[in-house]
Amino acid sequence: MRNAIIRSTGAYVPETSIPNSEMDKRFGEGTGAKVVEKTGIRARRHMRADQTTSDLVVEAAREALTRAKLTAADLDLILVATDTPDQPSPATASVVQHKLGASKAGTFDLNSACAGFVAGLDVAAKFIQADSTYQHILVVGAYGMSRFLDWTDKTTATLFADGAGAAIISAVEGPTRLGYLGGVLGADGSFHDALGIYSGGASKPAGGDVHQYVKFVRRFPPTFNVERWPMLLKSAADKAGEKLDDVDLFIFTQLNLRIIEAVMQVMKYPMTKTHYTMEEWGYLGSGAIPSTLHDAVLKGRVKKGDLVALCASGGGISMGASLFRWTAD
Ligand SMILES: CC(C)(COP(=O)(O)OP(=O)(O)OC[C@H]1O[C@@H](n2cnc3c(N)ncnc32)[C@H](O)[C@@H]1OP(=O)(O)O)[C@@H](O)C(=O)NCCC(=O)NCCS
Repeated sequence: MRNAIIRSTGAYVPETSIPNSEMDKRFGEGTGAKVVEKTGIRARRHMRADQTTSDLVVEAAREALTRAKLTAADLDLILVATDTPDQPSPATASVVQHKLGASKAGTFDLNSACAGFVAGLDVAAKFIQADSTYQHILVVGAYGMSRFLDWTDKTTATLFADGAGAAIISAVEGPTRLGYLGGVLGADGSFHDALGIYSGGASKPAGGDVHQYVKFVRRFPPTFNVERWPMLLKSAADKAGEKLDDVDLFIFTQLNLRIIEAVMQVMKYPMTKTHYTMEEWGYLGSGAIPSTLHDAVLKGRVKKGDLVALCASGGGISMGASLFRWTAD
């Protein structure tokens, strides 16, 4: 049986950390405390002026390649999941191919907003299962949202940050199912106009006084994730032929710790079965799940043989969940 495994992970978050005390200075005393109360976020990372999204990707990818004992020349495909690309076209994945020197790799970007990395893993696993010429695929979720912040808007500037997480998806033959076990994608497109960057595309080209800012145009329904994530995970587990009770570690979209706490409570699992990073890194969008997964790996939270579930939602409203049997040491 040809399986698609996560052979290694890597992550990069920029060095510059902006604490909540800075939010108090910009938006008034008590803002930082409100952000902690609402989301758990205490600081956020921002990239340097000389960096762009592809640079974050390259740093995360290099770590994943080193941990996989592979070189860029081994990659057959590079898939970058981002809604903050270096530019609208061409794909950031092509910039990354050049910066990494991965001359054999095909490239494309995938935009499913904050669910992009989970969607990207699904695509990569299916490439590997369907086509024996693909051996190693780099999937990276990356967020350079600091470039799209309106510094007069406390509802976005307090949350969104920069960072990337990478995974090398490799093909292995084996008698049993390993690695990727199954995944589901979904969306509620009626909320496509709720959260996003609504300029710089064909509907509202950038230029003149049109700024490219990320905006909450209207609120996501407050109970959306608490209702949808357990259902999404159940669908992924059913497809994978596994039980959610057997999952060792859940990794969720990292916008809001309070939502993760509520979801774990609804599913009746302890918080020790999840891992989170938004407190110190802020919200990393499609980079959040892979960088949090990598942090869990570094901290020994994932062991060989563990069942790992990923669950994401984001602008669109796009959604995705998948289950993996962990194979890396
Ligand atoms: C963004 C989110 C944290 C806001 O929380 P909320 O409870 O909906 O907040 P509200 O809009 O009802 O505002 C309540 C109060 O908190 C304040 N507040 C909300 N977000 C804030 C922020 N980011 N910074 C500072 N204050 C904030 C509001 O100003 C308001 O203050 P007031 O009572 O003094 O007027 C929450 O809606 C959320 O987590 N949404 C999920 C979105 C999601 O999952 N997206 C997927 C990934 S992109």
